[in-house]
Amino acid sequence: MSWKNQHGEELLFTSSKAIFKPPKAMRGGIPICFPQFGNCGLLEQHGFARNKVWTIDEIPPPLPPNDSNGKSFVDLILKPSSEELKFWPHSFEYRLRASLGSNGQLSLISRIRNVNGKPFTFSFAYHTYMSVSDISEVRVEGLETLDYLDNLFQRERYTEQGDALTFESEVDRVYLSCPNPVAVIDHGKKRTFVIRKDGLPDVVVWNPWDKKSKAIVDLGDEEYKHMLCVDGAVVENPITLKPGEEWMGRLEILVVASSFCSDH
Ligand code: BG6
Repeated sequence: MSWKNQHGEELLFTSSKAIFKPPKAMRGGIPICFPQFGNCGLLEQHGFARNKVWTIDEIPPPLPPNDSNGKSFVDLILKPSSEELKFWPHSFEYRLRASLGSNGQLSLISRIRNVNGKPFTFSFAYHTYMSVSDISEVRVEGLETLDYLDNLFQRERYTEQGDALTFESEVDRVYLSCPNPVAVIDHGKKRTFVIRKDGLPDVVVWNPWDKKSKAIVDLGDEEYKHMLCVDGAVVENPITLKPGEEWMGRLEILVVASSFCSDH
């Protein structure tokens, strides 16, 4: 729900109309979409994981020694209840590790294990609501020339042009097989979210714009100006886990001042 920089500024968006009442996820933060992204499937939109109460693992396994320098972390666990098993009859263990580096980098690592007797298949997204100054001052770099599925046009496949992505209307797309990094550059706030991912080939970009915002009860009519969802995701080719197998999906977001510095 919350991730702040060293000046105490919130980096994630939460709607002023967010409803903090189970069994629905609140509008903002980083909801986990599992075991289904979107509404193409038998489950509720974006799956059930975001609507569940997770437990904290009080005695988590330690960080690997080569990755422990100055990091704080918490492990959250989700296991299916008998209610979920009725709709999605697959036993799994899901461990989500959220950690903060000494440079303020947020890392989310999901490990999902099949503890069932049969294979199961899922799609996934870290539905990351970034807080931005003004959506018209934002551009996204790293998606140029990639293919994407456009949810506004029955998931038809298009190819992005050579320019950075800017926003003038509703956007609801799944960019396919995106290389690292993807950068969300906020000119108004003079900061850049640099996103790196592992095990998450696709990137979802969503902003509902004015008309859709009015139809979303837990989002203020004008709040679309101050949010942008850019999600590390697995959408086009869902993951299949055989019994005993584990999947890992890692998202890292670092906020840097001014414009985006490329990897090299
Ligand atoms: C996006 C989807 O990821 O999430 C959109 O691509 C959807 O189609 C949006 O509207 C919000 O979904 P929800 O279920 O949180 O309102």
